[in-house]
Amino acid sequence: MKHRTIIEPFRIKSVEPIGLSTEAERVQQLKEAHYNPFLLRSSDVIIDLMTDSGTGAMSAHQWAGVMEGDEAYAGSRSWERMEQTIQALTGMKHVLPTHQGRAAERIIYGHLGGQGKVFISNTLFDTTRANIEFSGATGIDIPVAEGQDPATDHPFKGNMDTQALRKLLQQHQGHVGAVVLTVTNNSGGGQPVSMANAEEVSAICRETGVLFLLDCCRIAENSWFVKHREAAMQDLSYREIARRMFALADGAVMSAKKDGMVNMGGFLALRDGKLAEACTNLLIITEGFTTYGGLSGRDMEAIATGLQEVFDPHYLNYRIRSTTFLGEKLKAMGVPLMWPIGGHAVYIDAKALYPHIPSHQYPGQALVCELYRLGGIRTVEIGSVMFGTYAEDGSLRPARMELVRLAIPRRVYTQSHIEYVAETFGEIMRSRDQVRGYKIIKEPKFLRHFTAHFEAL
Ligand code: F0G
Repeated sequence: MKHRTIIEPFRIKSVEPIGLSTEAERVQQLKEAHYNPFLLRSSDVIIDLMTDSGTGAMSAHQWAGVMEGDEAYAGSRSWERMEQTIQALTGMKHVLPTHQGRAAERIIYGHLGGQGKVFISNTLFDTTRANIEFSGATGIDIPVAEGQDPATDHPFKGNMDTQALRKLLQQHQGHVGAVVLTVTNNSGGGQPVSMANAEEVSAICRETGVLFLLDCCRIAENSWFVKHREAAMQDLSYREIARRMFALADGAVMSAKKDGMVNMGGFLALRDGKLAEACTNLLIITEGFTTYGGLSGRDMEAIATGLQEVFDPHYLNYRIRSTTFLGEKLKAMGVPLMWPIGGHAVYIDAKALYPHIPSHQYPGQALVCELYRLGGIRTVEIGSVMFGTYAEDGSLRPARMELVRLAIPRRVYTQSHIEYVAETFGEIMRSRDQVRGYKIIKEPKFLRHFTAHFEAL
């Protein structure tokens, strides 16, 4: 018999209680958090879909590795395992361990960047852009047009616009620090990048002598989409697909908190010895010695195992299908969302859900608060709270889209948790006309979404 039900391909050995609350309690908690989910206590949250980064569950094998971790300052056995695992996966000789993705970003973009330099990407993740801009350089995003429309169906909405790439490379000749392909494209909805697109980007970079880097923190999830949506790739394993994509690049930056299946960690992998040497100098100054970077031996042990486990076909199939399961359920209920569903998250189009709330009253923030009030579900606004800026006259320049991200932690929630989220959306749909917007009453100068205070209108 062939089953339709996609079961979690694991059983649960260790559990963590979820505190349940009433709607009245959550109304009070929201008020105390100034209607900003970043200011809620995790112990009050019922289902936490704020991020898939560092929030996954480790396997019994990884936990066993934690006890085996070799904490030597130099030449740790756990480092050898992590280094060999990454070398075998990426085919890159030089591996620099860091405490998370942005530490690797700071090192590589700090070195390659600086005034007058340009970095071109399908879409730079916000910490990547911040590290590039902090060096004095400029980041330019050129996703394909299909990736910018929430409703169009396209198999690879994470792709880079290669025509625009050729133009930009000509325009900025001699000043391009690197071309960066983010797989999957997080800011674009966790949308995949095709092998054909990566090959074309790689060929253009080789022709023009420009460095080509992968931001590979969700490359296993990307490989699932490549295998199932790109006919030429269907006979390769997920791991072979990832290896093939790495083979196209000169280097890779990874936040292991995603497809590394750990709670903390990252790395930078490079082919070129000279570049690696320059980066190693920065590593030692800011992270740690070459054989641990920002990590303990136990972390490195867990990463080595996580990078193997993530390519298990049963795991990847469950991972992508269960994210899609939530998306399909919401779509069937008429919830407007980014389509097709990406690898790690479902993105709701709050502007379409609440057409009566204008951007300057933050429809995404309204949905974030409703999800918490009705279900204790924590999510994140990715719209004008996060990306809006002010014009000279003080009016809001809204973001391009008003989205809310439901990011799914790896191996944490079961199907009934997801059913509960969908049920909550039933009430969201019924009461959508009564929901009102928010105004910001206090905000810092940078990255305001983390700490801003709101008031309900
Ligand atoms: N690149 C991408 C594509 C990411 O999604 C992230 C983190 C990073 C780099 C930075 O890695 O957090 O380990 O320093 N994304 C998290 C998220 C924060 O919620 O999407 P980090």
